[in-house]
Amino acid sequence: MAQVVRSVVFPVAGRGTRFLPATKASPKEMLPIVDKPLIQYAVEEAIEAGATKLVFVTGSSKRAIEDHFDADPELEKALTESGKTELLDSIQGIVPDGVSCIYIRQGEPLGLGHAVLCALPAVGDEPFFVHLADDLIDGSPGCLQQMAAEYAEHGGSVVAVETVPQEHTSSYGIVAVDASDRNRITRIIEKPDPADAPSNSAVVGRYLLVPEIFDELQHIGRGAGGEIQLTDGIANLLEKSPVYAYSFDGVRYDCGSKLGYLQATVAYGMKHPETGVEFTAHIEQLVKGTNKN
Ligand code: UTP
Repeated sequence: MAQVVRSVVFPVAGRGTRFLPATKASPKEMLPIVDKPLIQYAVEEAIEAGATKLVFVTGSSKRAIEDHFDADPELEKALTESGKTELLDSIQGIVPDGVSCIYIRQGEPLGLGHAVLCALPAVGDEPFFVHLADDLIDGSPGCLQQMAAEYAEHGGSVVAVETVPQEHTSSYGIVAVDASDRNRITRIIEKPDPADAPSNSAVVGRYLLVPEIFDELQHIGRGAGGEIQLTDGIANLLEKSPVYAYSFDGVRYDCGSKLGYLQATVAYGMKHPETGVEFTAHIEQLVKGTNKN
């Protein structure tokens, strides 16, 4: 029977250069979608999927993430005294009892594969999730829970994929699969030119990996862009152990890009209990105005 997945790794050590200057001194994972930072959506999705050990691989200018998941007695006291119980609830219990946070520093930003490898001492010899917080996926149940169910049924590693326009393959890890074997990945390649891409099925920021990936990451060396690529580690893993491509149910927003971030903000703003009605009316007005011109 497949093991329970208890650990989740959040690689948050990248500098978020596509979002400068906003990300000069504060992490891109703290960018809010309406009223919650991206990393909180990530943590909630992982906890929903059963994770109890949250491993953050951090780098410079990421202190705000630790502060966000820590208790803030002063603020809690002020909110209690002013009777703001709803706001108090919103800051307490972000990390429920029984769930622990571990912070590991990635000394140098040597790539996503290297960041995942940094989590080895915290994860140990168990399957684990990797969650990239800037890929926000609106799904119910969440994407990680969908992947955990898939893993519980069939085992193997599971990688979330989505079809992208052919001209965008050079921004993603791209997979070829054996459709007769539950979409087992036969090939994975980092950011291929559209002409060389084996498909337009792109890996997005959710992975469920068996611990053997760590052996591969220890041995692959630097790949594209001089970085230790998670894609290269998976390419070696799939020769020894099955890795399946999983088409999740949900809508993904690439919040590491300005356009994706704005799209997510509009979508979440239109359904947020506090802002939904008025914000939707506002968007409709804007659209009407545009149509007149
Ligand atoms: P990205 O490629 O999105 O890089 O990394 P980035 O630095 O965050 O953003 P841009 O491209 O400069 O705007 C994918 C994920 O891998 C993490 C990032 O934090 C992000 O979640 N990462 C990347 C690390 O943790 N360490 C690294 O060395 C590289």
